Amino acid sequence: MIKKNALVLVSMLCLCSGLFAQKSITGETPEQKAKRMQWFTEARFGMFIHWGLYSQPARHEWVKHNERLTNEQYQKYFDEFNPVNYDPKKWMKAAKAAGMKYAVLTTKHHEGFCLFDSKYTDYKATNTQAKRDLVKEYVEACRAEGLKVGFYYSLIDWHHPDFPIDAVHPQRPDPETDQAYDSLNKGRDINRYRQYLFNQVRELMTNYGKIDILWLDFSFPGKHGKGRDDWGSIELLKMVRKLQPGIIVNNRLDLDDYTDGYDFETPEQVSTDELAKYKGKYWETCQTFSGSWGYYRDENTWKTNRQLLDLLITSTANGGNLILNVGPTAKGEFDYRATSALERLGNWMDANNESIYNCTYAPAGFALPENINARLTYNPVLKKLFLHLFDYPSSGKLVLPGYAGKIKYAQLLNDYSEVKFKEGGSNNADLILAMPELKPPFEVPVIELFLK
Ligand code: GLC
Repeated sequence: MIKKNALVLVSMLCLCSGLFAQKSITGETPEQKAKRMQWFTEARFGMFIHWGLYSQPARHEWVKHNERLTNEQYQKYFDEFNPVNYDPKKWMKAAKAAGMKYAVLTTKHHEGFCLFDSKYTDYKATNTQAKRDLVKEYVEACRAEGLKVGFYYSLIDWHHPDFPIDAVHPQRPDPETDQAYDSLNKGRDINRYRQYLFNQVRELMTNYGKIDILWLDFSFPGKHGKGRDDWGSIELLKMVRKLQPGIIVNNRLDLDDYTDGYDFETPEQVSTDELAKYKGKYWETCQTFSGSWGYYRDENTWKTNRQLLDLLITSTANGGNLILNVGPTAKGEFDYRATSALERLGNWMDANNESIYNCTYAPAGFALPENINARLTYNPVLKKLFLHLFDYPSSGKLVLPGYAGKIKYAQLLNDYSEVKFKEGGSNNADLILAMPELKPPFEVPVIELFLK
């Protein structure tokens, strides 16, 4: 008896210390958070836009780092920045037509150049040949198309004179000795940079109306890195939430030990196989078409339509979002490869979006047999399962073991035509679908199963 009580006590203590290890900044309850996250979990699909001066060299948004360029060497891109065809209405129309529900634009990337009219720097679009606040037009275009508005803001800044040189800075020393860092960083003051960062985030959270989602990017704590103390992460996050109640913030402020130090996780460029481990959390996988976020003219390994659909469907099938990136050109346009990829996604989404929006992973009891290359999504309100077929059965039938007795009707999602079925197999536990002879004209056809 005593032993048993002691055990109970120990396990209670463990539980409590576990709870205390998860600190909270705002004290928000899981129910309140779920409400705040609702539009995001329903949307499932967004557009990332990486655009800045790096669209001119057109060889990766990290070009300044990769080639160790100085501010002077990089200056030509500022001087020549002239996006004559910038028309974000076109961008947002393309996003909407692809089935995306929100967008996130780089207001400033690591290079430090601001697309917005900040009071705190001259290094901004207003002072280029563009001569205007490009973020303002983007925000208006999002709203005109009914898309939720998102900003990306780089915590890292490779242009600001006070930003201390660290291991990823273009002017990082080689070899990396402490002395070399010390001498390079003489006169640079992180406190002044932090003030700049706060000032700019305050501008973004104040001057553009309601902002739905914010990406702050990124932390790399440790020696010659930067993290929460450098950014003032807790105070920054508090300021953001105060100025924009309801906003959704990503997880790169180095506050992972707080339950509300972020709203969603951001698995970057991971394979579809890795997405299952995020089930049950809030998350959004960010993915490029081709490997680079900024426009990369000569990059030629673009994902296929099938790979992109796989990312979208597998994200939903694991209860998360996909934010797919476009890197517009220096002229201000989506290039032809991005445009055609978006059109193909739109073609699929037009016919099949009900298996994505408002959907998540299937309830327990609906497993997929190993021999089928398919993914399941589920709309819990409508109680519908969506079976995405990556390989179309040539045998004319599809067997779903254990589904018998649970389904009242089945149809193709793209045209609502009936798919007949019967029950059979051992114990009559299998659902046997009589597959339409002709594969529907979609890369990944979807069968909709209405649960009893
Ligand atoms: C990384 C990269 C960056 C990109 C971002 C998107 O942090 O530094 O270039 O903006 O990921 O997730």
